[in-house]
Amino acid sequence: MTEPQPVYLKDYQPPAFRITHTELKFDLAPSNTRVTALLHLERHPDSQPGLPLILDGEKLSLQRIAIDGQELQEGEYRLDAETLTIEDAPDRLRLETEVEIDPAANTALEGLYLSNGMFCTQCEAQGFRRITYYLDRPDVMATFSTTVIGDREQLPVLLSNGNPVERGELPNGKHFATWEDPHPKPSYLFAVVAGSLEKVEDHFTTMSGREVLLQIWVEPENLDKTEHAMRSLKAAMVWDEQTYGREYDLDLFMIVAVNDFNMGAMENKGLNIFNSAAVLTHPQTATDAAYQRVEGVVGHEYFHNWSGNRVTCRDWFQLSLKEGFTVFRDQSFSADMNSAPVKRIEDVSYLRTAQFAEDAGPTAHPVRPDHYIEISNFYTLTIYEKGSEIVRMLRNLLGWDTFRQGSDLYFARFDGQAVTIEDFVGCMAEVSGLDLTQFMLWYSQAGTPEIDAHGEYDYAKAEYHLTLRQRTPATPGQPNKQPLHIPVRIGLVGTKSGEDLALTLNGSQGKQSLSEGGVLHLREAEQTFVLSDVAEAPVPSLLRGFSAPVKLRFPYGREDLSFLLQHDVDGFNRWDAGQRLAMLALDDLIAAHRNGVEKVMDVRLTEAFRGLLTAPEEDQAVLAEMLTLPSEAYIAEQQPVVDVDAIHAARVFVKQSLAVALRDEFLAIYQANQSDAVYAPSAEQIAQRSLKNVALSYLMSIEDERGVELAQQQFEAGHNMTDVRAALTLLVHSSRSDIAEPALRAFGEKWAHDPLVMDQWFSIQVTRPQPDALDRVKYLMAHPAFSLKNPNRVRALIGAFVNQNRINFHRLDGEGYELLADVVIKLNKLNPEIAARIITPLTRWRRFDEQRQALMKAQLERIRAEDLSPNVFEIVEKALA
Ligand code: PHE
Ligand code: ZN
Repeated sequence: MTEPQPVYLKDYQPPAFRITHTELKFDLAPSNTRVTALLHLERHPDSQPGLPLILDGEKLSLQRIAIDGQELQEGEYRLDAETLTIEDAPDRLRLETEVEIDPAANTALEGLYLSNGMFCTQCEAQGFRRITYYLDRPDVMATFSTTVIGDREQLPVLLSNGNPVERGELPNGKHFATWEDPHPKPSYLFAVVAGSLEKVEDHFTTMSGREVLLQIWVEPENLDKTEHAMRSLKAAMVWDEQTYGREYDLDLFMIVAVNDFNMGAMENKGLNIFNSAAVLTHPQTATDAAYQRVEGVVGHEYFHNWSGNRVTCRDWFQLSLKEGFTVFRDQSFSADMNSAPVKRIEDVSYLRTAQFAEDAGPTAHPVRPDHYIEISNFYTLTIYEKGSEIVRMLRNLLGWDTFRQGSDLYFARFDGQAVTIEDFVGCMAEVSGLDLTQFMLWYSQAGTPEIDAHGEYDYAKAEYHLTLRQRTPATPGQPNKQPLHIPVRIGLVGTKSGEDLALTLNGSQGKQSLSEGGVLHLREAEQTFVLSDVAEAPVPSLLRGFSAPVKLRFPYGREDLSFLLQHDVDGFNRWDAGQRLAMLALDDLIAAHRNGVEKVMDVRLTEAFRGLLTAPEEDQAVLAEMLTLPSEAYIAEQQPVVDVDAIHAARVFVKQSLAVALRDEFLAIYQANQSDAVYAPSAEQIAQRSLKNVALSYLMSIEDERGVELAQQQFEAGHNMTDVRAALTLLVHSSRSDIAEPALRAFGEKWAHDPLVMDQWFSIQVTRPQPDALDRVKYLMAHPAFSLKNPNRVRALIGAFVNQNRINFHRLDGEGYELLADVVIKLNKLNPEIAARIITPLTRWRRFDEQRQALMKAQLERIRAEDLSPNVFEIVEKALA
């Protein structure tokens, strides 16, 4: 077998041909769907004359091919596993092909596939080539006209992009629908859906008065789960008009919920396809977190209509052009809809655990990679989340108004085009007059920059000297890094007044007031900033709002952190001070555990928590975040060698110590936040529930009788899934099977019919810290509700175990690793995209002790010996390199 070869950004060439219009006909049948394509092709004006016409196509069975009505004979075209080549194509032609495909056999869920008897497509990034022969690249944009033919009884609903223009009956119990999409689009935004679906409708009037019909299509049993998605959609449409001046551009906007889907959702023009988990909600079945995810994803896909669809990517190396910008837009939308500081805390926590870990591992890559083997491996936290942070830095560097001007310019100038990251940043530079040359390194350099900060207060001169040293560690293929342009937002908090001091920067151009935001521009490897007229000794508050995606170290003492926790006006940094304080305590306890020394709780942490509990924050949502200890995954990120057991033991010890010392306070918080209000996913209610459930988790950490009683009551009262799930998790994660088993059984029986709830049932069990967790995973893999073919099931059962049950996945007998490798080997054949994602924890083997390293590596080698998909091949090669 020949090894899959990488594609390089530097080899980009414009296409030899372009397609002005695409006419498609689908005759749907589970095992032999017939796709007829008529492509209006012409030679690209910028291409070299005489180049052959090379179309992409995979897993297609060609039935017929004709140019301008003339059938081609064998020898007039060439076929291989991935292409169809026509050597002497005319400069302008109509190419007609007819292929047969097998949706029923498509377990990779790329191209046209079947999900619960419903036909649907997934074309990003390169799925369209599994539907028909095409120039399957984002810089080829065409208008589409699509006719879908299907069985009238089984497939009453036939959807595609754009506007419905015709429908009618056909012989043999069939019917058809024809759709036209007037907006030129790349093939990755194409979609077809056909099935027995029902819809919920609503209307939206755009800012210029266009009436838009909104539809959410679901299986009949889910009709009562669409309300929140519809509300979120309308909110997103208003928000994008008000915030970015972006208006919707068709008369119809559709969302379809699909059970089998590799990702969260897909922004197909006018016909967004969603993983059912990212669209369906009901108070009895979905948690607050799920409601918020739905709002975020609905917003995300809707916002793509401009940042992605109207203006798209020239090539897949530019993926973050649409994803980074769109994540930034959806994060801002969610922040505006809910508690903004909590949204920021959640996004940063995620980035710092998951994306930083990616940046520190063997698959680290720049936000704009310069090569790839399999593009679907690059839908990563780096492209999405770090990409969003880069856009956020631009917003912060330019200020909102100028940033918005840059955004307007970008959309106006490049509407209908496929462009690059330079085009986007270029607009920002043009409207602001800023030189963003150094800033562009954020896109090309992988790895998380580290800043060592050091401060000195000079009483005599009333000056504060802040020295910042930056370095970015080496990543695969990038041994040497250059200094980045890093915006570091700061404040100085007076130790006497407890208030922010005015900031005057003493630079080469004299004194400059930093009052607007207090952003320092770190550009050199090392820079000292002199702040003058500092009237009292300050504690610095650094990287406020997490102004750049970096690791910042500063030798804070525990007093400093307790002080910031109380006084910092920046909500994010107040939270971060608490996390840093907890980390100091955890570090000592991890060392104690490792050295076999008795563990002693840090009283300053207890007192800080007492302060939080007794003089509650105004923002209850932020308080709940502050009471949450750093996760095991985050703690692990801070350790040079990850000691799984010590981390777990230390965290449990801190949690239990706090619960013992502050039992009454937690109980009071629990009681104060009980409510009988009708469920609403409002910011206030969500804050109340999270505060109440955090408090309960402390009480249950010591399995306090009162706590057990409250958890049982809360579970049985069953007000909403947020409370039920929180209580069930605490019962099941406890050491007492007498309280765990009955609850688990009751829940499993009650929800056996609802796959999204059963996913929660799977996750709760396999994340329990008890030593039987791995056996449960094996047992549940044989459960009738589980299937390796469904990505949500795989994530709920296997993903939850390997990512969120660290002590059991990393068992010293290596069984956790073996189980994951077994799953990867099976998924490699069924669904390579999911296989290549689920393997992630094994790729991080270098972070652990020698014994675990050897065990993990052995499993990676076992996987490598298989006949691998390009997806898994690329990841395993990098992991073992
Ligand atoms: N483009 C989708 C999004 O970000 C994600 C996606 C990628 C979905 C590839 C499916 C396949 O919203
Ligand atoms: Zn996206």
